[in-house]
Amino acid sequence: MKLLTCFVCAFFILSMSPLLSQTNYNESQVPSFEVPDPLTTFKGKKIKSVKKWEKTRRPELLHFFENSVYGKIPKTLKIDSYNILEQDNNALNGKAKRKQVELTFKNNGKTLSYTILLYLPKNIAKAPVFLGYNFYGNHTITEDKAVLISSAWANNNESFQIENNTLTEESRGKRTNRWAVEKILEAGYGLATIYYGEVDPDKNDFSDGVHSLLYDRNQEQPKPDEWGSIAAWSWGMVRALDYFEKDADIDASKVIAFGHSRLGKTSLWAGATDQRFAGVISNDSGCGGAALSKRKFGETVGRINTSFPHWFCDNFNQYSDNEEALAIDQHQLLALIAPRPLYVASAAEDQWADPRGEFLSAHYASSVYNLYGKKGIETTDMPKINEPVHNTVSYHIRTGKHDVTDYDWENYIKWANAFVK
Ligand code: GCU
Repeated sequence: MKLLTCFVCAFFILSMSPLLSQTNYNESQVPSFEVPDPLTTFKGKKIKSVKKWEKTRRPELLHFFENSVYGKIPKTLKIDSYNILEQDNNALNGKAKRKQVELTFKNNGKTLSYTILLYLPKNIAKAPVFLGYNFYGNHTITEDKAVLISSAWANNNESFQIENNTLTEESRGKRTNRWAVEKILEAGYGLATIYYGEVDPDKNDFSDGVHSLLYDRNQEQPKPDEWGSIAAWSWGMVRALDYFEKDADIDASKVIAFGHSRLGKTSLWAGATDQRFAGVISNDSGCGGAALSKRKFGETVGRINTSFPHWFCDNFNQYSDNEEALAIDQHQLLALIAPRPLYVASAAEDQWADPRGEFLSAHYASSVYNLYGKKGIETTDMPKINEPVHNTVSYHIRTGKHDVTDYDWENYIKWANAFVK
């Protein structure tokens, strides 16, 4: 009996271990591990040419991330129709052209729509564009009264007066601090943003959002190797890019995928899966984004899978508190973006996202950029705070907390001017 009790206890403790493991914020307690080489195949073959990288190594890495991390999209789902809900050629006091475009998708007798808010510089015939999701609705990124309010489910947020999971006029403009709209327009770029909850509400429920449009008969949730919410949000960015190819005001060959935090994980996966994105920005994306998982610093795979069970595919659970077993690490996700320009940014007070792990990841991805003759992050010495390193792979760590600031945008614009435009 005693033995049985012990056994039950041990089982209970083990099954709860992701919750119990302490968060490590101490560099000296980072375990030592071998960083998987982006340029050695799973079978141990060295990759020495772009051709071999593109033919052998890149596909096997992409396959691993698809099947064991983010999940694959079961079928192709293309835009059924798009509808310009609203347009004004003199928006923002005459500084911009504004469009609100609704994309609609249909399958299995179900319909999903989401709306892209676009601000475009007026004096540019075909503008390069930053595309990124927002957390609380398009109307939160600006004071502009013409921006439509989404009726999709939203997380409650007391300080934004969002109650009953419903967005209202009260939250208009609450997130203007994160979107340097004027700076972006003045630099000759457009901004496109989408409320992520319209593509898939951010909760552990797979009956809503885009997933159900692609279920087989009687299927109620994704299979273990099928897409979680991050892959669904990335899919939404890819379909927005399909629309941009049809919009004469946009240069679809110069679209930069941008994202903060969980939406930075999303922009990275979008850039990895669709090579039409001309550049990718990861702002404070942390665990499951740019940060190396094997460091187990700040948020870990176990923690993220426990707190957000719907973000990754179910297969990723096998690495909870078991990062050693991973055949890959997140720098190889970054390497999938090569040779396109990539910007990884951290914040000094954002230890949960492991700034050093984000930096090292950019460094270890750089061997693939070098193969293409591009410069990445060539050293393992982290730059000082507020001293950005700008190459095809760029990195900065700024003062302050987990957020998107004007400083971040100023640097993204500088990098985009040098490497994307
Ligand atoms: C949580 C989560 C992070 C995520 C962040 C965000 O902190 O643990 O992984 O990046 O939310 O999206 O704001």
